[in-house]
Amino acid sequence: MGQTQTGSDADKVSISVDVSKPGAKIDRNLFGQFAEHLGHGVYEGIWVGPDSNIPNTRGIRNDVVTALKALRVPNVRWPGGCFADEYHWRKGIGPQRMVTLNSNWGGVVEPNTFGTHEFMDFLDQIGAEAYLSVNVGSGTPQEAAEWLEYLTTSQATTLGKERAANGHPAPYKIAYLGIGNESWDCGGNMTPDYYVSQLKIYSRFVRNFNPAQQGQQQMLKIAVGPGGPEARFTEWTEAVMKAWQNHQWSWDMNGLSLHSYTVLHWDKKLASMGFGETEYSQVLKATLDMDGLIAKHSAIMDQYDPQKKIALVVDEWGGWYAPLPGTDPGFLVQQNSMRDAVLAALNLNIFVRHADRVRMSNIAQMINVLQAMIMTDKEKMVLTPTYYLYKMYVPFQDATFVPVAFNAGTYVNGNISLPRVDAIAAKDETGKLWLAITNLDPNKAIEIDANVAGTSGKSAVGETLTAPKVDSVNTFEAPRTVVPKSVSTTVRDGKVTLKLDPKSVTVISVQ
Ligand code: AHR
Repeated sequence: MGQTQTGSDADKVSISVDVSKPGAKIDRNLFGQFAEHLGHGVYEGIWVGPDSNIPNTRGIRNDVVTALKALRVPNVRWPGGCFADEYHWRKGIGPQRMVTLNSNWGGVVEPNTFGTHEFMDFLDQIGAEAYLSVNVGSGTPQEAAEWLEYLTTSQATTLGKERAANGHPAPYKIAYLGIGNESWDCGGNMTPDYYVSQLKIYSRFVRNFNPAQQGQQQMLKIAVGPGGPEARFTEWTEAVMKAWQNHQWSWDMNGLSLHSYTVLHWDKKLASMGFGETEYSQVLKATLDMDGLIAKHSAIMDQYDPQKKIALVVDEWGGWYAPLPGTDPGFLVQQNSMRDAVLAALNLNIFVRHADRVRMSNIAQMINVLQAMIMTDKEKMVLTPTYYLYKMYVPFQDATFVPVAFNAGTYVNGNISLPRVDAIAAKDETGKLWLAITNLDPNKAIEIDANVAGTSGKSAVGETLTAPKVDSVNTFEAPRTVVPKSVSTTVRDGKVTLKLDPKSVTVISVQ
């Protein structure tokens, strides 16, 4: 990665940007989102219905759409998660919706008022692509195949005519297809071999008929991949990749999913607010394990796919904390603090450094669930620190990785030792250089001295995100506690000098 760390404790950090050695493209899909039928992720978070007093367009909240458009969300994974393996699409189309139960998440009533057409309308409103997760656990290949025919055929088949009668004559574009979800657990507790046989069948028969999605524009199929570093997951990656290496013309896949949450103890989760430096450093230490996890599974993938044709798709990740007191534990409601913005930056930086293999990620989850971008309460909406972090990282979408070398130093808290600084750089499509620098140290500011020789820029401008405390949050009452502030400086002798606040993330462009 062109990056070194030593035990030095310097308050000054030199960063050297090597614009002469551009690396992989940072796929915009690294900044994807995930919306499951879980708690208030979809209902209330996206969907309020056309008769709501909350301003909406065909039932979809306008405030949420406006906020998400600013993130240039590349894709949204839907309808789950565990929910996907119990979802039956026909219950969510047409004028009469079947009312069912959401047995995964709180056992609540699922009205199915947000179904296929509403999801596609939502994507259209925010300008994102569809990442559909089909039901392998309790559905059938026929059900999934018919869903895709319903969505994508341009011909006057019975299903195509039904879609037209339901308001959408033109075929929809489905860019990504997830074949099952956590099939080693909530998705059916399958063995690797059993899953591989299902994968082949779904890959073969669940076809995309959209004439605009043939050849180069084909829908990409994502297989269930590992959920951690344990032996059972390395065996899983081996089994799927080996099957793919020997695959026949009749089936294929383009991605392997990876799920990994930052959670210290599943049976005693940490609080999402009201914590101190100990929990801040513990969580950041744990989240950095993402790098080793990706390296481990990438190494297995390299054995079967040295040309890196199969993307590693980290389609569930983020901080997972204890439910907020007074909320339904099945709804996974938590607060989102400055710690989460730093956590998101560190993970996105890891994905960017692995951009040759990691070409898509979906943070869990977009609204009101786990590490959310947005939280809502009836007509109120608040943008989280993670939202602002994603907004600051927009320029990295589809930019080209540029290596950076730096001496990260060390931030020590008790028996926890972390790099003090993390940084990535990239060139956007216009040739502009972007730098994202994180100061993990919650106590000390750091002076950065970035050598950007080779660029013709005269100044560096951008934004910095910090907060009064590591556990500072935005609330409906105080929504601007953690918001980015402008920063600017001049480039002198090919160097950018910047002071980074404690616990901050700064994104600048050199121009
Ligand atoms: O994101 C919440 C749940 O976590 C998802 O439904 C499941 O895939 C994972 O275990």
